[in-house]
Amino acid sequence: MGRISLGVIGCGYWGPNLIRNFVELPAADLVAAADLSRERLSRVKTRYPHVTATEDYRDFFAMRLDAAVVATPPASHFRIARECLMHDLHVLVEKPLTLNSLNAEELIEIAEARGLTLMVGHTFEYNAAVEALKTIIENGELGQIRYIDSMRLNLGLFQRDLNVLWDLAPHDLSILLHILGHAPVSVSARGADCIFDGVYDIAYLHLVFPENILAHVHVSWLDPCKVRRITVVGSRKMAVYDDVETLEKIKIYDKGVEAPPYTDTFGDFQCSYRYGDVVIPYVRFVEPLRLECEHFVNSILSHTEPRSCGRVGLNVVKVLEAAERSLQNGGMQEMILNEEGAAYERVAA
Ligand SMILES: NC(=O)c1ccc[n+]([C@@H]2O[C@H](COP(=O)([O-])OP(=O)(O)OC[C@H]3O[C@@H](n4cnc5c(N)ncnc54)[C@H](O)[C@@H]3O)[C@@H](O)[C@H]2O)c1
Repeated sequence: MGRISLGVIGCGYWGPNLIRNFVELPAADLVAAADLSRERLSRVKTRYPHVTATEDYRDFFAMRLDAAVVATPPASHFRIARECLMHDLHVLVEKPLTLNSLNAEELIEIAEARGLTLMVGHTFEYNAAVEALKTIIENGELGQIRYIDSMRLNLGLFQRDLNVLWDLAPHDLSILLHILGHAPVSVSARGADCIFDGVYDIAYLHLVFPENILAHVHVSWLDPCKVRRITVVGSRKMAVYDDVETLEKIKIYDKGVEAPPYTDTFGDFQCSYRYGDVVIPYVRFVEPLRLECEHFVNSILSHTEPRSCGRVGLNVVKVLEAAERSLQNGGMQEMILNEEGAAYERVAA
C-alpha cells in the first residue's frame, strides 16, 4: 500500500478539520465523508467535490477503503469503530476512545486479532509544546516533580448528553499520562451541574501519580476566561505551558524555595527564595492535528503501533471512569487499576 484511502464519519465541528488535514496529506486519499446531516455533507461536498458524501457510513464498507476516522459524538464511538474494525478498516477514533473501559478493551482485542491499527485522537500528544514540556521534565531540568496543575476553562460549549469531565478532561489526562509516562494511582473528583440538572459543567480532579506526584485538573464550561494552562512545579525549576499563547507557549522559571534548617525561634525561620531568569524555549509549531493525521497514515503504512494507540486511549478512559465514579460518590478517592486488575503501586516519597 503506497497511499491510504479513507473516509471520515462525522462532519460536525471537528470532522471538517480532520478532512482538511487528510486532503492535504500526500500519503492519504480522502475518498468519502459520512454524516446524518445533509446540510453538513453539502458543505463538505462544496469544498471537496471529489469526495463521496453519504448519510450512511456503512456505504464505506463497499468502497474498498483502508481506513475510517470516527468523529461522531462519543456515545457512538464504540459502535461505529467496532463495525469499521469488523469490516477490516484501520480506525482513528476521536477522544475519548469510548465511554467505558470494557468497550475500549473490546476494540483493542478486535484490532489486535485482525492486525489493524487502532488509534485515538489525543491531539495534544502531537503538540510540539507538549513534547517540549515532556523533554524538559525527562531531562531533569525541573528537578523532582512536586505537582502539576492543569486548567482548561471557557464559557461553553455546553453539551446535553456528555459532561465536562468526558468532554474536556481527556485532553488534560492524555497530556499528563504522556509527559509523566505513567497512569495515576488514584483519582478523586468534585463538580457541579450549574446549568443543566445532572450534567456536570465544572469538575476538579485530584490525581496521585507514582512517586507521590500530585496533579490537579480543573475543567469548566462556566468560566469568563479561556484558559488552557499547565504548571509543572519541580524541586529546581518551574514550567508553565500556556496553550492560549500564540508564540511563547512554554516558559521555564528559575524560581524556588529552600526551607531553613530546623530552628526553634521565629526570627530564625526564614525561607530562602530564589528568583532567577525566565527562559522561553523556541518551539517550532506545526498544526498538531496535521501531525496526528500523518502519524495515523504512517503507522498503517509501516505496520507500527501509533503513539496514541488503543491502550493509551484505554488508560485515559480508565481514569475518566474512576473520576466519574468519584463525582457520583461525593469525591471519594478511587483507585485506578492496571492491566492485571491491581492498583498501580504507590511509591513512597
Ligand atoms: N481532538 C480534539 O481536539 C477535538 C476537538 C473537538 C471535538 N473532538 C471530538 O470529535 C468528536 C466530534 O465532536 P464535534 O464537536 O465535531 O461534534 P458535533 O456534534 O459538532 O459533530 C458530530 C457530527 O457527527 C454526526 N453524526 C452523529 N452520529 C452519526 C452517525 N451515526 N453517522 C454519521 N454521522 C453521525 C452528527 O450529525 C454531527 O454532524 C467528539 O468525539 C469530540 O470529542 C475532538
